[in-house]
Amino acid sequence: MNILGIETSCDETAAAVVKDGRIMLSNVVLSQIDIHREFGGVVPEVAARSHIEAILPVAAKALSQAFAKGKEPSVKGEVKNLTTYHLLPSTHQLWNKVDAIAVTYGPGLPGALLVGTLTARTLALTKQKPLLAVDHVHAHVYANFLDTDNPPKFPILALIVSGGHSQLVLLRDHFDYEVLGQTADDAAGEAFDKVAKLLGLGYPGGPAIARAAKRGNPHAFSFTKPRMSSAFDFSFSGLKTAALRQAQQLAHKDYSFPSHQLASLLNEQQINDLAASFQQAAVSFMVDATVAAFEQYQPKSVIIAGGVAANTELRHQLTDRLPINITYAPPRLCTDNASMIASLGYFQSRADKFVGPLTLAHNPSLSMKKD
Ligand code: KG4
Ligand code: ZN
Repeated sequence: MNILGIETSCDETAAAVVKDGRIMLSNVVLSQIDIHREFGGVVPEVAARSHIEAILPVAAKALSQAFAKGKEPSVKGEVKNLTTYHLLPSTHQLWNKVDAIAVTYGPGLPGALLVGTLTARTLALTKQKPLLAVDHVHAHVYANFLDTDNPPKFPILALIVSGGHSQLVLLRDHFDYEVLGQTADDAAGEAFDKVAKLLGLGYPGGPAIARAAKRGNPHAFSFTKPRMSSAFDFSFSGLKTAALRQAQQLAHKDYSFPSHQLASLLNEQQINDLAASFQQAAVSFMVDATVAAFEQYQPKSVIIAGGVAANTELRHQLTDRLPINITYAPPRLCTDNASMIASLGYFQSRADKFVGPLTLAHNPSLSMKKD
């Protein structure tokens, strides 16, 4: 069964075709990072407008790459060169090979989600395909089912950490899950992005912090872990403030000094040490919660998912502290993509979880609820 996945929840316009939930036939991701970089973060209205321009060409490219490899006459030029890219009539015959469409309907930016869901609804109606509405956060787990001979086994303990979400979830089966813990405030990726901004390391912050941390001392500064009501919860906002206070102290400035100018008063070693110490603390909060949950629930597999799962320090610390191997996807599948949407969509189709193209509504605040 071939599913076309569509993902537009934040700043990536993505489409992919996945066979039987596991085999990636194509995976097209058009990142808007270059557009948002000059603003230091994602601008929601700009994201929505960019999705409008890109979604049909990106979907056309995903179909062509999946079903017309080597002879892609219907699609000319690169996706970035949108003027030469159209959903041309010859792409239409490729639709015969698509069995269903799966689209992210939440959580995410309202305008961005609206573009993806309206596109999928319209395509489902006009091409007469069944439609599946997919939870983006749940779908991050499915990056680990793609193109692997060794998919995770239930029960799965999943640490899902991205720019918008941070949760620890126990999945007993595909749709039988329990949120064990979550962040009390900032998402993990959000904290990386904010501290990177403070240190003048640019956007997106996660990879920038990880790079600077390689040259820094993770024990230069110690940041204490906040006391949480549950061992499975975590919190990053105190850590972010502690990094700001440390930067102020190193720069001999107080709270009245503009924080965006602090980095210019720090030398490279101080910045690298702050990045390494922050990363060390942020990672240890996530790892402590995951290890506590592992000990209590004894899952068969532990996976890390979401953009922050690309962090190598997180992978190393978890590998060191858990008695079983952890599963993680390659970095390009940890960050937002449509293959993970198509994969979860496949399992939804097997469970007969279809939605009507006229009734599907996007849900920006959708959440995998903690019981
Ligand atoms: O899953 P994702 O692509 O988008 C959301 O659904 O939010 O995650 C993006 C987040 C960003 O905050 C980015 O800074 C973070 O993932 N990230 C990382 C790394 N690579 C990406 N954080 C830490 N270390 C990394 N290597
Ligand atoms: Zn995501």
